[in-house]
Amino acid sequence: MTAIDRPTSEPEVPVVDSPPDARPVGWSHRHLLDTDVLSWADIELVMRTADEMRDVLARPIARVPALRGRSVTILFYEASTRTRVSFEVAAKNLSADVVNIAAAASSIAKGESLVDTVRTVEALGAQMLVIRHAVSGAPYLAAETFGGSVVNAGDGWHAHPTQALLDLYTMRAHLGESSPEGGSLDGRSLEGRKVVILGDVLHSRVARSNIWTLTAAGADLWLCGPPTLLHGFEAWAARGAAAGRRFQVTSSVDDALRDADVVMALRIQRERMASGLLPSLREYAARWGLTAERLALARPDALVMHPGPMNEGVEIAPDVAVGAQSRITEQVKNGVAVRMALLYLLAGVAPHGGGE
Ligand code: MLT
Repeated sequence: MTAIDRPTSEPEVPVVDSPPDARPVGWSHRHLLDTDVLSWADIELVMRTADEMRDVLARPIARVPALRGRSVTILFYEASTRTRVSFEVAAKNLSADVVNIAAAASSIAKGESLVDTVRTVEALGAQMLVIRHAVSGAPYLAAETFGGSVVNAGDGWHAHPTQALLDLYTMRAHLGESSPEGGSLDGRSLEGRKVVILGDVLHSRVARSNIWTLTAAGADLWLCGPPTLLHGFEAWAARGAAAGRRFQVTSSVDDALRDADVVMALRIQRERMASGLLPSLREYAARWGLTAERLALARPDALVMHPGPMNEGVEIAPDVAVGAQSRITEQVKNGVAVRMALLYLLAGVAPHGGGE
């Protein structure tokens, strides 16, 4: 895993109306499988390219020809609404040809292996493959076989890199301009900002990918939840994540939320959970749910976030989910810009693309 270096100079920002070419902007990754391999310069480049994409999205016709003639296949082995649609909209906004494959309606239901499916979609012209799979590591296997670029759209408990990058983008849009003490910050990092991830951390690929980006951004990161849903994270916290930066792990909601700048609630991921980890959802909601009363412990302008889908009344109270501090819809919107940025940058180094 690559240590995250701090920014030295600002990365060049691509001209996103033109076909991608990674060379001038310094992006070198062919695949995006997790955030752990991204340098700080890579993260900055994604953020700045996403700013450009936001400008594209604000145009009357929110479309650029950058990926015209490229084929993006979206292969989802797990249910999804926002992530799948977000990738589809992002790819179409870049004028790519998009093919959608839902596992339940494909030959996968007849027993075709992942490797066979990847070979098949490649033979049918796929140049970029966006994959979601219930098994951790599946996108890495796909990347070994596939000749183009693979983007991990969520694998098991392991990683969800585009979610972490859109979360960071959303936080920086609100918190990145100045430090808590009022001084100016280097770039738009989250240095010293208290960010709390609250809930079912154990089963969360969102939390795992966020640990890398948020420690890289210098945030004061806290993971909070029932002890059974934090298992193993204490050791990681002590070892450190990006550039060895440590983070906090606690089961005290009060300690975690006090003076927080961001509170991100996580869904109880029952489909990934063994029995016996929680007494009941009702008890979970009572002890760990993000209610208005608990949120009052955080800073008055703290951001409320959630990767979705939400179970309102369990990990987050309905009034908090849609309250004035909620940035949840904004996360969804930013997801399109961040995914456009990533597809664009990856296309610049894809062997089928212009970079070879
Ligand atoms: C995911 O795919 O991991 C989601 O965005 C979060 C969840 O499933 O709760």
